[in-house]
Amino acid sequence: MCGIVGYIGLKKASPILIDGLLKLEYRGYDSAGIATIEKNGIKTMKDKGRVRNLYDLDGINDLEGTIGIAHTRWATHGKPSKENSHPHMDGTKTFAVVHNGIIENYQELRESLEEKGYKFLSATDTEVIPNLIYDYYKNEEKNETGLLKAVSSTIKDLKGSYAISIICKDLPDIMIVARKDSPLVVGKGINEYYVSSDIPAMLSYTKQFYLLNDGEIAKLSRNNVSFYNINLEDVSKDLKDIDWDVSSCEKDGYEDYMLKEIFEQPTAIRETIGSRLKNNEKVNFDEINFSKEYLKSLNHIYLVACGTAMHAGLAVKPILEKLCHTNVTVDIASEFRYRDPLLDEHTLCIYISQSGETADTIAALKLAKSKNAKTIAISNVIGSSITREADYTIYTHAGPEIAVASTKAYTCQIILLSLLSIYFAEILEIEDTKFLNSLKEEILLLPKKALNILNDTSKIKNFAHKIYKEHDMFFIGRGSDYSVSMEASLKLKEISYIHSEAYAAGELKHGPIALIENGITVIGILTDPNLVEKTVSNLQEVITRGAKVLVITNQEIESKNYEEIINIPSANPLISPVLSIIPLQLFSYYISKEKGLDVDKPRNLAKSVTVE
Ligand code: F6R
Repeated sequence: MCGIVGYIGLKKASPILIDGLLKLEYRGYDSAGIATIEKNGIKTMKDKGRVRNLYDLDGINDLEGTIGIAHTRWATHGKPSKENSHPHMDGTKTFAVVHNGIIENYQELRESLEEKGYKFLSATDTEVIPNLIYDYYKNEEKNETGLLKAVSSTIKDLKGSYAISIICKDLPDIMIVARKDSPLVVGKGINEYYVSSDIPAMLSYTKQFYLLNDGEIAKLSRNNVSFYNINLEDVSKDLKDIDWDVSSCEKDGYEDYMLKEIFEQPTAIRETIGSRLKNNEKVNFDEINFSKEYLKSLNHIYLVACGTAMHAGLAVKPILEKLCHTNVTVDIASEFRYRDPLLDEHTLCIYISQSGETADTIAALKLAKSKNAKTIAISNVIGSSITREADYTIYTHAGPEIAVASTKAYTCQIILLSLLSIYFAEILEIEDTKFLNSLKEEILLLPKKALNILNDTSKIKNFAHKIYKEHDMFFIGRGSDYSVSMEASLKLKEISYIHSEAYAAGELKHGPIALIENGITVIGILTDPNLVEKTVSNLQEVITRGAKVLVITNQEIESKNYEEIINIPSANPLISPVLSIIPLQLFSYYISKEKGLDVDKPRNLAKSVTVE
């Protein structure tokens, strides 16, 4: 979703701001803009369309200011247009503001400002912010303290979510930033500070970051930063060293981030296993220490998330349920938060979020906390909002995921949650140790097996080439293969814009088989030896009705009129989704490429969905 960049230092700000916006492009956006403080006041340049278009704007190269803010907008209030693009200014052009999030009471605030004579140029919720700041500031001393007071009063009036960055023409040596329920980090350089919605955008400038918490304000000058709470009381904050390297945020010779991230999976899986699992040892999670009594007292575990992260939950439900002998429910965060689920101290709620910024997942977590359930966040982003809300946080170590379509985060979430299931089982002592050990051995082999799949992608590429012009497809499977079908179908929709449905293979006869007609593509996933024959029968039923079938399997199956069979390494069905999804990620990728689409930035989608 929207992205914010800010810079204050000794260098010309505009190239740094545009470079930062380019790195935030992956979040999804429809307009871009920047504002710098120049000798004669604040200069803003913005328009709908790509960040690169900013380079073509008249006068962009003449910007000399060493302080500035910038923004990529993903339209919520008001269509994509120049007027609605950020930065927004107040009527007197004293302030420029960029904002991520949604101001829920903007209509009310706008009306009360309009009654006082303020004029609005855009349809956005954001434009109330610079005007409100001005309204408070006009009665304050025109200095840093006056500005801080005006910002503090303004954000007390705002309902909703925001990350904001503010510059003021009267005070060209400071920038103010603030956040609530929308991410914002401050990077430290030498005689300079950077502001960004996320760490990767600024990694080529600094690896030292301050992470702002909800309700906090920061005042940045060229050689100092101070943090405050909403009442302007001092807050102390540690500088965090981030060990992601710049190349992990670049394409590294791959055509697209998505392809790079698919190929990074063997390493990402190995990193996520890390020191949590070693040969012949019990699984170890330093981040949590649950007692046997606590785990025994649980009567329900929820896995709550959105999109691909929710599919990771579906993939691990069977292993968690089997190893913990407890009911496990997988819930979509936007449903969970509004349906009054049964929660108490005997419920454990695990929230899965790559970005750690998904608004619905965070709200669902807060709900569980308010009902005394313990909460665990599984996230890929250090210091992300969800990690600051949860009772416990466990990180996947997938490295930065830039492509909008999630790939390596999904496989790492499954690995991490599978390890967590084994960790619980070892504390509970209710599963056969031999079985647990065999699962652990299999998990340790997964990076190698993933690499094996990636070593030859020709079959899946050829199949994608054959069918990329189609309009509908089906993915079917049983058990964990069904959960993979759902994820594969989502990937296909997202980046190739082809309609597809995922069905539990046994459900076909209960309706969807009516849609099977001559030439339609059906993809069958068959990795569970106990269910393979049943799914084979379902595939024969669709072949009889004219379907072309692609099979992904780790079983010996007879080639019964299938168009193509992709063989993958064998694995216990409890963890096989980590492998069976890989050819299907590539399938969507190659189809998208064949269609000439923007794989990394599919239309209408955003990398982190910070509004509900
Ligand atoms: C799909 C995809 C989305 C995300 C979903 C949750 O490829 O990326 O479905 O999985 O928006 O995002 P996180 O995991 O950041 O909470």
